[in-house]
Amino acid sequence: MSNRYDRVRRDLVQHPQTWLITGVAGFIGSNLLETLLKLDQHVVGLDNFATGHRRNLDEVRSLVGVDQWQRFRFIEGDIRNPAECAAAVKGVDHVLHQAALGSVPRSLLDPIATHEVNLSGFLNMLLAARDARVKSFTYAASSSTYGDHAGLPKVEDRIGRPLSPYAVTKYANELYASVFARNYGFKTIGLRYFNVFGQRQDPDGAYAAVIPRWTAALINGNEVVINGDGETSRDFCFVANAVQANLLAACADEASRDQVYNVAVGDRTTLNQLYDYLKATLALHGVQPGEHRAAYGPARDGDIRHSQANVEKAERLLGYADAVPLAQGLAVAMPWYVRFVAQRNDRGDDARGFNEAIQMTAG
Ligand SMILES: NC(=O)c1ccc[n+]([C@@H]2O[C@H](COP(=O)([O-])OP(=O)(O)OC[C@H]3O[C@@H](n4cnc5c(N)ncnc54)[C@H](O)[C@@H]3O)[C@@H](O)[C@H]2O)c1
Repeated sequence: MSNRYDRVRRDLVQHPQTWLITGVAGFIGSNLLETLLKLDQHVVGLDNFATGHRRNLDEVRSLVGVDQWQRFRFIEGDIRNPAECAAAVKGVDHVLHQAALGSVPRSLLDPIATHEVNLSGFLNMLLAARDARVKSFTYAASSSTYGDHAGLPKVEDRIGRPLSPYAVTKYANELYASVFARNYGFKTIGLRYFNVFGQRQDPDGAYAAVIPRWTAALINGNEVVINGDGETSRDFCFVANAVQANLLAACADEASRDQVYNVAVGDRTTLNQLYDYLKATLALHGVQPGEHRAAYGPARDGDIRHSQANVEKAERLLGYADAVPLAQGLAVAMPWYVRFVAQRNDRGDDARGFNEAIQMTAG
């Protein structure tokens, strides 16, 4: 039996659309690009390389056909610039807005930078898309919006107070989106990603996410620091699930719009379990972290203790189905990390940041 995602992909191949992906050189953006090009779509990508990389675009180029790559147009630009947003959205059917400065710790250190990109930049994109009368606007929201609400699993309409400037910006995106629906009839969809992981997620730098960072550290025999006692838990979401949710959202009917949806698996894994899974998965790929032991550091400001999604709303209204669980996602992502780190070691690039404290952001 075919599910809605199968039908959406078949329809897209038969009736190709033009998409704008903001943040296309980033982790999730480049995975969206790869999927859409493989479905023979036309894609415009906007990015200023703040945290994204040309190497991600090069990799997508190597994974798609020559004809498919010719359907991609890249604009190096900044969502903080309204004119650049307007130019990027011209002639576009669907917007997948991913560009933002991620990371709770970054936002605590530099709230203004996070605000300018994640909130002013978001508003620029929302206005540009409204004025261009696009068919759909889907944006990357975040599980950080649940803030200090202790209930589990997280249900979309029960949120607490934000715990960081990053969470404020992501929640304010949702508020703007709802105001645009009410006042301008411009109905968007927000996808509250939980901790997304997968190929092309950056292992480097002070704000790297936990899975790529630990994986790279384990491969190189570097120290892994777990913030707190390791019993903090997250609903780790393989990137294919985020891609699925974006395509379903873009093609959703009117009644499913002006909404936010959790995007995850509905499972919960502690950091201690994750550390063991990573070692076991690496061993299956020929890397033996052996007697590697994690070190424990202080708990981190702005982090929530547990996070787990209820994904029933996305299943019911968007047709989200068959979410790839953590173990299966790690099995796909791991060869990529092993290759990535080996190539970097061969080039002699420095292992910048690997000994800094591990960052464990809630979405
Ligand atoms: N990865 C996760 O676990 C997760 C969880 C919740 C929400 N999100 C959200 O998903 C989106 C994508 O995240 P990601 O993990 O792919 O991060 P990423 O850092 O890999 O990608 C973000 C991209 O946006 C670009 N960008 C940043 N500022 C920009 C600007 N001013 N103009 C144009 N481009 C700009 C960056 O260069 C980068 O390519 C973000 O909105 C993030 O907040 C991610």
